[in-house]
Amino acid sequence: MAKILIIGAGAREHILAKTFLKSPQVDQVFVAPGNEGMIEERIKIVPINIDDLKGMVDFAKKGNIDLTFVGSEEPLVLGIVDEFKKAGLKILGPNKTAAQLEGSKSFAKSILKEAKVPTAAFSVVRSLSEARRVLVKHDFPVVFKLDGLAAGKGVSIISSCQQAEDYIVNLYKNNPNTKLLIEEFMQGPEFSLFSLVGKNNTVVHTPIAQDHKRRFDGDKGRNTGGMGAYSPVAQISSAILEKVIKSIVEPVLKVMQDKGNPFTGVLYTGLMLTKSGPKVVEFNVRFGDPEAQVILPQLKGDFYQMIIDLIDGRKPLIEWQKKEIYLAVVIAAPGYPDNVEKGFPTPLLDDLPSDLQIDYAAVKKNGHNLISSGGRVATIVDHAKKVQLAQKDVYSYLDRSNLQLAYRHDIANQLAKFERDNQ
Ligand code: AMP
Ligand code: GLY
Repeated sequence: MAKILIIGAGAREHILAKTFLKSPQVDQVFVAPGNEGMIEERIKIVPINIDDLKGMVDFAKKGNIDLTFVGSEEPLVLGIVDEFKKAGLKILGPNKTAAQLEGSKSFAKSILKEAKVPTAAFSVVRSLSEARRVLVKHDFPVVFKLDGLAAGKGVSIISSCQQAEDYIVNLYKNNPNTKLLIEEFMQGPEFSLFSLVGKNNTVVHTPIAQDHKRRFDGDKGRNTGGMGAYSPVAQISSAILEKVIKSIVEPVLKVMQDKGNPFTGVLYTGLMLTKSGPKVVEFNVRFGDPEAQVILPQLKGDFYQMIIDLIDGRKPLIEWQKKEIYLAVVIAAPGYPDNVEKGFPTPLLDDLPSDLQIDYAAVKKNGHNLISSGGRVATIVDHAKKVQLAQKDVYSYLDRSNLQLAYRHDIANQLAKFERDNQ
């Protein structure tokens, strides 16, 4: 029986742990650092910091871990896969260079260009004068992106010349030489495709998902890590999906391979369906959170075997359910993402109707109860034949539970409208 190590602390890692435990070949899952809501009998949390690569390698060696799976981006960008492989440990994920697809927006853009993949037109600048020269040629709105990991906070949509001037003056006063991407503003519905990539570009694509990044209903307010998600996304046709796979994902994987840096792990392609077709918004190199919470429960088959097959370069024999819609609503500190207060009572699994799933993110034990210890506290998930039924289940529970935590009330409304229009 296999022992698994999952790296990360949030709701995404919680659902990863539960998905591995469904495999008849897995008897124990360790999550480092995990969180105190991961109370399942066969899940153990291990207090190792997410960026302590040596600590992770030592734990995996001493604990005879059979397979490690990384949930969050930080250790991947730091090179955890290289360290595990050097130590002879089994892991599926991108090496440090391939992880630059997420770690550096300018690296991602250079790969997209080489692969001739549609994406927003862009320039990379490194000084105030360069930024001004580029902006003269741009219409507004325009998009500014800071290079490097920013947990969703490095992107600004700039609506006027004055706002752009204020931004760049401030940026280069405080951080001279910063790499800034200036990008064309795109419009259209967003969706994400997750491609699990193994040896020799063996690939499994998951159903697509739609995240809700803005904090408030109606897509208002700041960008967050994600306030809710649903999957599959019926509004995106299978022809569009086929096009994304053939003309975006496959060329990118081929360019990475041709450059001697094959990508392995989870390639998260963030897309926008513009008037001129699907275009790439960004790449990440791991599952999305909360997208993982709506994708992984759709797997019909053995997740552990699937990952082992990918590592060995065999095409996995798995299927994804096709009959239902999965919906996730994130519950968060009321002031998230700006002002994160802690200590709010958090629902226990036993408090929920039995058809709802809860994946914990930032919680601590307080006697027999759980209290919040961060911004995104947990994800509540349901599935049903129609998204409206799933919305009804989740929201009627949340609305009657008198939580002091906040949530969006409109997750998957676009799909609900599509369902109504196509009845
Ligand atoms: P990113 O961190 O690159 O995913 O960007 C976060 C969010 O900003 C995306 O999910 C989009 O909603 C928005 N965004 C990023 N780039 C663009 C763009 N070129 N045009 C319009 N919106 C964008
Ligand atoms: N939900 C967006 C992300 O995981 O980056």
